[in-house]
Amino acid sequence: MNYQWYPGHMTKARREMEEDIRLIDLMIELVDARVPFSSRNPDIDAMAKGKGRLVLLNKADLADPAVNQQWCEYFEKMGYQALLVNARSGEGLRSIQGKVQAACREKLERDRRRGIRNRPVRAMVAGIPNVGKSTFINSYAGKAVAKTGNRPGVTKGRQWIRPQKDLELLDTPGILWPKFEDQAVGLRLALIGSMNDDLLVKEETALELLAFLAETYPQALPGRYGIAAGTPLEMLEAVGAARKCCKKGGEADLERAAGLLLDDFRSGRLGRISLERPQKGNGLS
Ligand code: G4P
Repeated sequence: MNYQWYPGHMTKARREMEEDIRLIDLMIELVDARVPFSSRNPDIDAMAKGKGRLVLLNKADLADPAVNQQWCEYFEKMGYQALLVNARSGEGLRSIQGKVQAACREKLERDRRRGIRNRPVRAMVAGIPNVGKSTFINSYAGKAVAKTGNRPGVTKGRQWIRPQKDLELLDTPGILWPKFEDQAVGLRLALIGSMNDDLLVKEETALELLAFLAETYPQALPGRYGIAAGTPLEMLEAVGAARKCCKKGGEADLERAAGLLLDDFRSGRLGRISLERPQKGNGLS
């Protein structure tokens, strides 16, 4: 997938989402638990004004459990329901039903006062590319998706799927665009693999990761590669030496070492690591 966002893409994605938002009671926003700030587009707050809000911190399996809790509290303080999930394994998905009810309490009470019973909550899933929207829809509503698709006479276009009795979900997620203006955001999205690696200078990205790990997760590098602390460049060389990344003449192949390191980080082999915390100095209050 190509993660370059041109004004045309953004306008189209935004228009499509705005049309869908008119139909829903609840916005289910997916963010990457390792970078909940950088993987959100705050425009969603204005777009989904007046709707119930549920933030799913997906890929929680890759993020630091203690920091995960802090992010949940942060979003709850903002007035949203929040939940840690792993859309790939399905962990956490069972708690969604309760969160949906809590996020839509006002609407459900209004319905009850008007004598409307059993009207399902209508929701859509949204997030920037690669946060796991499709994986989530499939694991949460997989059977329902297949059933709706197979029904004869169902017209193409928007379709509602019913993962549970009291919830209807749009089968296509809303796509938000990342906020690239801030360099630190771009770097963190690159680190989690949400941008095409060809566009990046891998070594530079790897050096940034090494500096961050040495400071925040000092056990990660010795644990995986048995290397000692040093400058980022020394550590990249040490990763290369530990993994025998050499060019033909015996010279260290730092690009390969950087690729290995980034792969290890993205797949969780360096441990559960969060790149952002909900603290001042993080663009957050
Ligand atoms: P999108 O629709 O938001 O663009 O994201 P998508 O579902 O395509 O997921 C992007 C990648 O993230 C996929 O990996 C997917 O398996 C992975 N993923 C989604 N949710 C989770 C999660 O909770 N934990 C972990 N560890 N990974 C998750 P991929 O490598 O692109 O594809 P594949 O190897 O799974 O086929």
